[in-house]
Amino acid sequence: MCGIIGYIGNNDAYPILIKGLKLLEYRGYDSAGIALINNENLLSVYKTKGKVSELETFISQKNISGTTGIGHTRWATHGEPSQANAHPHYSSTETLALIHNGIIENYSAIKEKLKAKGYSFQSTTDTEVLILLIEHIKISNNLDLLNAVQLALQEVIGTYAIAILDKERPDRIIAARKSSPLVIGIGNQEFFLGSDATPIIEYTDKVVYLEDEEIAVIQKNEPLKIVTINNEPSNPAIKKIELDISQLEKGNYPHFMLKEIFEQPESLFNCIRGRINADNNHIALSAVIDHKEKLLAARRFIIVACGTSWHAGLIGKQLIESFCRIPVEVEYASEFRYRNPVIDEKDVIIAISQSGETADTLAAVELAKTRGAFIYGICNAVGSSIPRATDTGSYTHVGPEIGVASTKAFTGQVTVLALLALTLSKEKKIIENSIFLETIKELYNIPEKMKEILEQNEKIAALSQIFTYAHNFIYLGRGYNFPVALEGALKLKEISYIHAEGYPAAEMKHGPIALIDNEMPVVVIATNNSLYDKVLSNIQEIKARKGKIIALVTKGDKIISQIADFYIELPATLENLDPLITAIPLQLLAYHIAVCKGMDVDQPRNLAKSVTVE
Ligand code: G6P
Repeated sequence: MCGIIGYIGNNDAYPILIKGLKLLEYRGYDSAGIALINNENLLSVYKTKGKVSELETFISQKNISGTTGIGHTRWATHGEPSQANAHPHYSSTETLALIHNGIIENYSAIKEKLKAKGYSFQSTTDTEVLILLIEHIKISNNLDLLNAVQLALQEVIGTYAIAILDKERPDRIIAARKSSPLVIGIGNQEFFLGSDATPIIEYTDKVVYLEDEEIAVIQKNEPLKIVTINNEPSNPAIKKIELDISQLEKGNYPHFMLKEIFEQPESLFNCIRGRINADNNHIALSAVIDHKEKLLAARRFIIVACGTSWHAGLIGKQLIESFCRIPVEVEYASEFRYRNPVIDEKDVIIAISQSGETADTLAAVELAKTRGAFIYGICNAVGSSIPRATDTGSYTHVGPEIGVASTKAFTGQVTVLALLALTLSKEKKIIENSIFLETIKELYNIPEKMKEILEQNEKIAALSQIFTYAHNFIYLGRGYNFPVALEGALKLKEISYIHAEGYPAAEMKHGPIALIDNEMPVVVIATNNSLYDKVLSNIQEIKARKGKIIALVTKGDKIISQIADFYIELPATLENLDPLITAIPLQLLAYHIAVCKGMDVDQPRNLAKSVTVE
């Protein structure tokens, strides 16, 4: 969702801005723009609807220069994707230009007030209202931009990460945040600005994460200055980011999504590395050990998450309940935050988020905090907002995920949840040692088994070609594989735009069975586990209605593989770790169907990687 890049220093800003915008494309957007102050102190805004490459073509016909600039990718909220609605937005005198991530909720009231004072608007965005408000306050009170921004931000309700250029001060960028992330990179006599660290790491590993209601005064040849919107000084805490630039490139893969699917054996290993000892007989998820009193005393756990992370949460519920015998509820963060949940200091919240920035998940965390609950975060993006808002937590350590459809983050989340459940169960002294050791050993085997599945990539690609005709898909699974069915269906919807539903296999006869005919592909997760016979019966019910069955079976299966129209053989594993195996062929199936249909796999329409608005 919307991306921000900024530069101020001694180098040409444009190449840095355009490269940064390309690195931010993964977040999802539908228009892009930049603003530059050139060497004659002229402030210019260039923006286009569509891809960053279209902006680049548009700008290639202009004569541009300047060492101070800001850039933005917009994911439409208020007003359609168009050149007029794209950021940056000029102030009415065109002396200021603003980019903004987030939503100004009271924009309509402010707009009416400004209209009454004679202001007119070029766009339908909430962002333009903010820059006109800042300008109005600045001019009518004869204030410096910083003070005008402070007063304006005291008036707005909503969320923002903003950056502003002022023609009168070409040596300065003013930036601020509330509930929408903003990172400042500190280079050698230069500063960078990003909605995340992705576009910055090529230049510096020294960053400052702005806190809520802080304003950064980023000035050439001056130390970074931070004040709050109430003008209290704040000390910038400089952090070091550890991110390898090669992780942000596709390498030899045609898409980030395929690269990330193939990275899973390694990313899973990175996730468990250092948490399981060399003899494979002990797990130390440090956050669990450090807070075991709190966790063991919990009346229940409530998992809050969105999208794929919510699916991982459903698997986490089964793992924690079966290993630790602690009740677990799994909630959509967006519902949880608005329904006045019964929650207090005896509850533990587990917030799961790849990006660590999902607005609803962050809000659910803040709500639970006010009720005194203990908060545990499971995130991938180091230093993001959720890890900073939680009491403790564990990173998934799967590396940056760029493809909008989450893949390696999902298996990383499930792995951390398994480690959490095992560690806690051991601390609670309720897990049999043989089961504990067997599970740890199998976790170590999973990367090799994932590689075995990835070797079937070509076969799955060929299978996918058969199904590009489909307008609907049903995904079925039971037990630990029910959430995987939901996740498989989500993957297909996200990138191929084929309608797909995930269901618990037995629930099918309470509705979805009415949809089955000889054109309906039904993906059934039918691996060899305690529910195998039950799933077999469900398959017979589909077969009797001529549905086309694509079954995921365990290697050596002699029954379901004979009944299914198509099958994919998977290595055997423990029932409770099966999602780490069964998710992979479903990711590949969705990927190849989308590729066959010619879809934009890494940046599917209307979706965003990091959903920073509610
Ligand atoms: C978006 C992404 C999904 C992701 C969801 C939750 O919808 O496209 O892939 O699962 O947000 O994101 P989070 O970063 O909180 O895991």
